[in-house]
Amino acid sequence: MAILPIIIAPDPKLKKKAEAVKAVDPKTVELMENMLETMYLAPGIGLAAPQIGVLKRVIVLDITKGNGPPDPICMANPEITWCSDDSATHEEGCLSLPEQYDRVTRPAKIRVSFLNKKNVREECEADGLLATCIQHEMDHLTGTLFVDHLSHLKRSIILRKLKKLKKLNAS
Ligand code: NI
Repeated sequence: MAILPIIIAPDPKLKKKAEAVKAVDPKTVELMENMLETMYLAPGIGLAAPQIGVLKRVIVLDITKGNGPPDPICMANPEITWCSDDSATHEEGCLSLPEQYDRVTRPAKIRVSFLNKKNVREECEADGLLATCIQHEMDHLTGTLFVDHLSHLKRSIILRKLKKLKKLNAS
């Protein structure tokens, strides 16, 4: 397994659209495992392939945050097949936007269909943090960041902060 560098916003690479995988082959499984290792080390509860510069529809999640045994979830080509009318607001952060948090409103419950590590299509229902996390990671697959759900003002404040931080780290 390998730890991969996470792309930090603002970066045009984070705004690109990811492509579906043809199948979950050994290379995709390796990608999933590397992404999980990278996510756990960060530490984070979700990571999408575009965040490490791979434009494939692959996401990994584990919302246990060290409470109890790890429960990694790997999804390729995830599709939301149903979402609830009621919405929920959660504070979100992102490994590509370090130290930045804000509240985002999304559908409270979803059903998602995806290919698992064995290349078998599965469907699961999620609510609470898991529903938020899946939607957040799936957004990355279309080049959408959580700040894109905020007002223009809030988004530009956060992105300006990150730009400054990047300059600082580079010098
Ligand atoms: Ni994110």
